[in-house]
Amino acid sequence: MTVKESQKHKLHQPRTIAITGGKGGVGKTSVALNLALTLSRQNKRVLLLDGDTDLANVSIMVGLYPQKTLANVMAGECHLEDTLLTTDYGLHIVPGASGVQECMDMSPADSLRILRALSQLESRYDYVITDTAAGLQAPSLHMIAAAELACVVVTPDPASLTDAFSLIKVIKRRGYRRVPSILVNMAQGASQARSVFQRLDSAAQRHLGMSFHYMGGIWRDETLRQSVINQKPVALLPVSDPSCRQFYTLADMVNVRLSQLPQRKAGIAAYWHNVTRRQSNEEKVGLPQPVSARDRCLNAVGELEAALTQAPDNAMLRYEAFTRLFALLGGELDSDAVEIIQTGLGSMAWEKLGREHKENLAAHLRHLADEIAPERTKDPLSSPAHAALPEPVYDKISFGEQDRLLRVLKEQPADISLDQLLRSLAGNDRSQS
Ligand SMILES: Nc1ncnc2c1ncn2[C@@H]1O[C@H](COP(=O)(O)OP(=O)(O)OP(=O)(O)O)[C@@H](O)[C@H]1O
Ligand SMILES: [Mg+2]
Repeated sequence: MTVKESQKHKLHQPRTIAITGGKGGVGKTSVALNLALTLSRQNKRVLLLDGDTDLANVSIMVGLYPQKTLANVMAGECHLEDTLLTTDYGLHIVPGASGVQECMDMSPADSLRILRALSQLESRYDYVITDTAAGLQAPSLHMIAAAELACVVVTPDPASLTDAFSLIKVIKRRGYRRVPSILVNMAQGASQARSVFQRLDSAAQRHLGMSFHYMGGIWRDETLRQSVINQKPVALLPVSDPSCRQFYTLADMVNVRLSQLPQRKAGIAAYWHNVTRRQSNEEKVGLPQPVSARDRCLNAVGELEAALTQAPDNAMLRYEAFTRLFALLGGELDSDAVEIIQTGLGSMAWEKLGREHKENLAAHLRHLADEIAPERTKDPLSSPAHAALPEPVYDKISFGEQDRLLRVLKEQPADISLDQLLRSLAGNDRSQS
């Protein structure tokens, strides 16, 4: 029986949630863990898949140090159950869950063994929550696609918004059709959280032709920050505590959202099973239709524009985008590249610059010009232009035939002054003419 067939016989499937976010350190693990603990506290059976490859992972946040991870299961050294860590309120954690990606490199029999075990495991829970690693690596992208609900964590930091935007753009390109939820972490208050969401949402409407679901905000909270250091998650505090309360609100929001989404017939393991089965043509699965270099380039520029518009105050981002783009344009420095760069510079609205900025820029441009092609020096012999002078032409009209002139020169005494020499040559010329 395949994983898919075994799914058909199950009455129960967990609700699956991926906690994700393009940027590191936005609070994915804190959110995933506290949400998982809150649901467990509400007597739900919850499995937390720790897909974070970083050190700041779930198990460390609760002070548990895994002896075995999914990697050991892959290697056939133990069963999936042996990796389970149990923490407060009976929450179960699978460490090293990002290793599930390696199923794709295993033999069909081996990967089926692992995925069947995962399928059986997840059917015992009400919720399976995945904490993904930051970035656009394949395991994280698959974990988002595998879950019913993708909760993208962002912060008011513009860099987190641009990274989240890139992440969503990538998953959309890979065929993701659901509406991601946005959770604004580390917000100063409700209005800031809402406006951060709206900025991201309007950028997505403009550039991706899609809209997001607003999952709410989690406040910037010193207690939460300390809880990570003390390895005592805020979800363990009394329910009346504001830090803990926030996650009750989040759990409610998640449940409302899940109730709006059709429940999947199959869980995470079945998703991976499909991916594994299509491994041979994985390149084609979920990836965009082939597009021309021109379209890809225009899309990329559109994306860059969106990212820069999202973060108008982020000078570092503009600096990085500018230098990398120019390095690309000038990678092949032929006459086309020079013209492209010239045209680009020419189209800048320099007149809008203040006097001081203009002078500053002009000084830089002069310096740059000197580096590219230094001005010719006064000494004509050391000038590179000298080398390009035409071959000297013998002036026959002034000096007569060359061999006659040579003879006259040889006849002159060695100690003759330049003056006498010129006079004698002139006399010689006259005598010849
Ligand atoms: N709401 C918050 N208020 C204050 N500090 C927070 C908040 N959320 C997270 N933090 C702090 O931010 C840091 C990063 O959090 P966390 O490890 O959860 O992020 P992450 O997105 O999982 O990071 P990584 O990408 O490295 O996995 C931690 O020190 C955590 O305590
Ligand atoms: Mg993390």
